[in-house]
Amino acid sequence: MRILVAGGAGFIGSNFIHHLIETYPDYEVVNLDKLTYAGNLANLRDLAGNPRYSFIEGDIADEATVIKAVSDVDAVVNFAAETHVDRSIHVGSRDFVLANVLGVQTLLDAERKRGNIRHLQVSTDEVYGSLDLDDPSAFTEETPFAPNVPYAAAKAGGDLLCRSFFKTFGSDVLVTHCSNNYGPYQFPEKIVPFFIDRAMNDQPLPLYGDGKNVRDWLYVRDHCSALDTVLHKGKAGEVYNIGGNAEKPNIEIAKYILRILDKPESLITFVKDRPGHDRRYAIDATKLRTELGWQPSRKFEDGIAETISWYKNNQEWVNNIKAKAENINNHLG
Ligand SMILES: NC(=O)c1ccc[n+]([C@@H]2O[C@H](COP(=O)([O-])OP(=O)(O)OC[C@H]3O[C@@H](n4cnc5c(N)ncnc54)[C@H](O)[C@@H]3O)[C@@H](O)[C@H]2O)c1
Repeated sequence: MRILVAGGAGFIGSNFIHHLIETYPDYEVVNLDKLTYAGNLANLRDLAGNPRYSFIEGDIADEATVIKAVSDVDAVVNFAAETHVDRSIHVGSRDFVLANVLGVQTLLDAERKRGNIRHLQVSTDEVYGSLDLDDPSAFTEETPFAPNVPYAAAKAGGDLLCRSFFKTFGSDVLVTHCSNNYGPYQFPEKIVPFFIDRAMNDQPLPLYGDGKNVRDWLYVRDHCSALDTVLHKGKAGEVYNIGGNAEKPNIEIAKYILRILDKPESLITFVKDRPGHDRRYAIDATKLRTELGWQPSRKFEDGIAETISWYKNNQEWVNNIKAKAENINNHLG
């Protein structure tokens, strides 16, 4: 099988490429990535020279690039997206629409014209909006979309395009909605690597609002195994929720990290809440478990400890990406 992984130089995409290469000795993987600030080929350095891996630098919203990239593949797994909620609020949402909506349309159209390609759209639980802290329910595949921030709205747009291509053209399309991921190779603007880095450097850990916003946490390699399951066993046109059964308030995440690194809780500070901040996400992954037989294998306590060790042992990777992020932020003013 030859698989095009779009956005494979990012956090989850690079973990997924490692997963495919390790799990399927006869698979070939092509990585199509625009290398935005979040794309980092250092995540895939160990695959340089591997005859089963190749890289195309390009934009999923660019028709000519995409038509060529899908010409000889059996499946496309699309991770490519603008992903940082704070950027979609404070920097602007145009790039989010270009990548997360127009990019998906460009891929779907090129795949339809080529024919006989399975498309797996990697999406987020954020499209479902927010639950109250005292609401015992969780998002199912039937929960209506109610995105509250531009990032989530743009992802929802891409997901709806997928649905429409299945309904209108019979395209072989699947969509997944996953909860928050953590693990190696995550850009340190996201809460887990950001807090690990701050704690290691004895800097304050800023929590939005009261720190009680709840997310469901999934180890990135468990997300990869879920995507593998959906790609190989999922039914065309279906949507699958992916979750970790590990709901935690953000303040708990901060405390875990401080405890494991043996740092004082006094490093926790509270800052003004961000606009549109969803209170709670919770995923009901019953469909994936009962219909396709997937469940997460890592307990949160083990996954977070492994993740912290990875960041401790990969300081060069962290420092390089921090230097890159500083340049971008200076450039943005
Ligand atoms: N991180 C999470 O917790 C999480 C949870 C659920 C779903 N998701 C979804 O998973 C996907 C991957 O998330 P991530 O955290 O790895 O993101 P990331 O920001 O680390 O990586 C995104 C990658 O996409 C590339 N990219 C961006 N725009 C592109 C374009 N127009 N053309 C080609 N490449 C482009 C970037 O260069 C980067 O390599 C996203 O679609 C996201 O919505 C993420």
